[in-house]
Order: sequence, then C-alpha cells, then structure tokens
Amino acid sequence: MLSETDARARGLADLPEVQSDSLLQLIALCNADPRPEKIDVGVGVFRDGEGRTPILKVIKDAERILWETQETKSYLGSAGDKRFAELIRPILLGDLADDDRIAGVQTPGGCGALRLGFELIATANPNARVLVGTPTWPNHPPIIRSTGLQIVEYPYYDRENFAVRFDDMLAALDDARPGDVVLLHGCCHNPTGADLSTDEWAAVASVCEERKLLPFVDIAYQGFGRGLEEDAEGVRLMLRSCGEVIIAQSCDKNFSVYRDRVGSLFLKTASTDSTARAMAHVFQRAREMWSMPPDHGAAAVRIVLDTPGLRQRWHGELAAMRDRINSVRKRIASADPRLSYIGEQFGMFSMLPLSRDQVLELREKHAIYMADSGRFNVVGLSDDQVDRFTAAVVEALDA
Ligand SMILES: Cc1ncc(COP(=O)(O)O)c(C=O)c1O
Repeated sequence: MLSETDARARGLADLPEVQSDSLLQLIALCNADPRPEKIDVGVGVFRDGEGRTPILKVIKDAERILWETQETKSYLGSAGDKRFAELIRPILLGDLADDDRIAGVQTPGGCGALRLGFELIATANPNARVLVGTPTWPNHPPIIRSTGLQIVEYPYYDRENFAVRFDDMLAALDDARPGDVVLLHGCCHNPTGADLSTDEWAAVASVCEERKLLPFVDIAYQGFGRGLEEDAEGVRLMLRSCGEVIIAQSCDKNFSVYRDRVGSLFLKTASTDSTARAMAHVFQRAREMWSMPPDHGAAAVRIVLDTPGLRQRWHGELAAMRDRINSVRKRIASADPRLSYIGEQFGMFSMLPLSRDQVLELREKHAIYMADSGRFNVVGLSDDQVDRFTAAVVEALDA
C-alpha cells in the first residue's frame, strides 16, 4: 500500500530550492550596492574604456541591411542559417575548412553548442566520462550533467605559480578510459587566462589519439587573445591529429551579440559517411531541444562575413577589443611584480592570488565585486578604474 506521502501528488510547489549560479548572485549583490564608485569585475562581457558594452558598428550596419532585405521570417529548419555555418568554417578551421569529414551547424550560442555536443556523446556512448580541468567555467559541469554523462575532474591550474598544471593534466589523460571525453578551452581560458602552449596542445592531441579519447574543444573567445588565427591553433592541432573531435564555437563575444545567442557546433569523425550519420543525430537532438536556433544574430553575423567591407571592418573592431584587453592586462601587470603574470595570460579573465576573505574585504571596503575565487574580468574595469582597482588589490596582498 502507498504511504500517505507517496500517494500525495507532487506538484510544482514541491520543487526544492535551486542553488543559483554564484556569478548570478554576484551580479545581484553588485546591482544592489548604492556606492557610486563600485567596480564590477565579476561581469562576463567585454566593456570599453568608458565601461560600456556597445553594439559593434558592423553589426548595426548588418542589422540595417537585414531589416531592408529580409522578406520572410518563415522557418529555417533545424540546421538554422546554413550560410552562417559555411562562413564560420574557415575562420575556425583555417586550411582544414575543405575537409569534408568536418561538418558544422548553427546553435543558440556556445551554450547550445556545448549542450548539443554532449547530447550527441550521451547518445553514442552513455558510459563516456568527461574529464574536466578545474577550475572551469561554472556552467560546464551542469551542462554536462544534464545529459547524464559523468564528470571526472583533474587539477588544471596552479594558483601559486599562475601556470597550467600540465603534468597533472597529462597524468589524468593517461588514466582515462578509451571513449572518455576531454573538455578543453580553445583559447582565453575562463576563469584563469592560462592557455596551453603549442607544445602542450600537441602533447594533448597525441595522448587523445593514442588512448582513443574524444577531445571536445570549447572556443568562446576566438580573437580575444592573440589573434583570430592564433587563437584557433589548438582547435586545428586537435583536428589534424585526432580522428574524432567536437568543437563548440561562440560568436557572442567576438561579434558582441551576447543576447542574440549565436554559435555553432562542429564535429569531425573518421569518414564523410560517419560524419553525415552523426550530423543526422545532431539535427534530431536539436529538433527535440529548440527545434531551430534563433535567426537574427546569426543572420547579422552572416551579412558581416559575406560583405567584404563589413568583414574587414569587423577585423578592426575585434582587434580594438583585443587590444583593450591586452593593454589593461599590461597596466595591471606593471603595477606590482606579484601581478606580472596577468600580462602573460590571455582573454578577459584571470584569477587574483586572494583568499575568499580578502575578496569579501575588497567588496566591503572598496566596493569591488569579483567572484569569491578571485576570478576577475580585466575589461570589467573602465580606464579610470584601473589604478584604484590595482591599488586596492596591492593593499590586500600587502596586508
Ligand atoms: C568558456 C565558455 N564557454 C562557453 C560560453 C558560452 O557562451 P554563449 O554566451 O555563446 O552561450 C561561455 C560564456 O561565458 C564561456 O565562458
């Protein structure tokens, strides 16, 4: 017989509390702080010297063209904007763009690509485990777990020495089982800013190939580190060495179209036939989850890339974002020898060598908001905030 509790229908009111993402909590705390001098380096988006996240001029121009020329908003199908994916292909793959064992599809942002890629893996091999370096972007583990795949963590970053724990990483890959997945950050590692060197990418590629591990590269910041081509070096190295690779790509940062949700999923298998079969599963999974990706942002990106003048101007606007990231890094790095490592890392994020208590003290005393881990966004700082920020951090380091 059912007990009274079992018999009671469970409704929405029975749902447990959600442990909300710590970064979302930080945004709420910062918004609620009335101090006008507050500094928000917890934010995950690019900001210019005045502290704004402007729409790129090329995107505005592309949106105008789109508004004038688009004749229908009829359905596009699960593959979304096929021309968009064709145009992303050479940017991501370089001289491998002609390899017809590699196929790609538009997704709702990098998150959509990650979810779709892990869904595909769970369909092919539900027993695969996903090796995830720590720390990683906080949304990686829940996305992976939502597909039912198991996570195996390994230490990625040495906070004492500001360097990748490469020996530990290789040891973890050596311990992995054939069929396991290795999640890698393509460039501009979030949250540490510590990327693999060319030699380290090559070593990871050969272990993956030898041990039959499946590399899954998440590249959300191409062009924010060393350059569009340079930042794709890791992706291309993995593709050259490994029979199977999955890539989750995002345009949300490098085209500054965050809320429009623009990304793509690419995959390589051993043959054109098996790639076509895998892509049929990709379309099926996409159909179940979002039917088709949102069109507007990808259409604007497509117009930029398909219009020579706009494409060239995008390179300029992207270089300006990258130059600002790297120049703020240099400014912080030159303030104190203990911060010099920040000038050698890439992308928007780095971690400060601060304890949780020190991070909380910066919040209370100086209205500086960063993640408890000490992760901060270098371009969360407007030009006139950099000196005050570094002075407060140096004061905390001296205490
Ligand atoms: C490492 C990493 N991967 C993927 C994403 C997802 O980006 P999108 O906004 O395109 O979903 C982010 C966004 O912050 C990220 O930091």
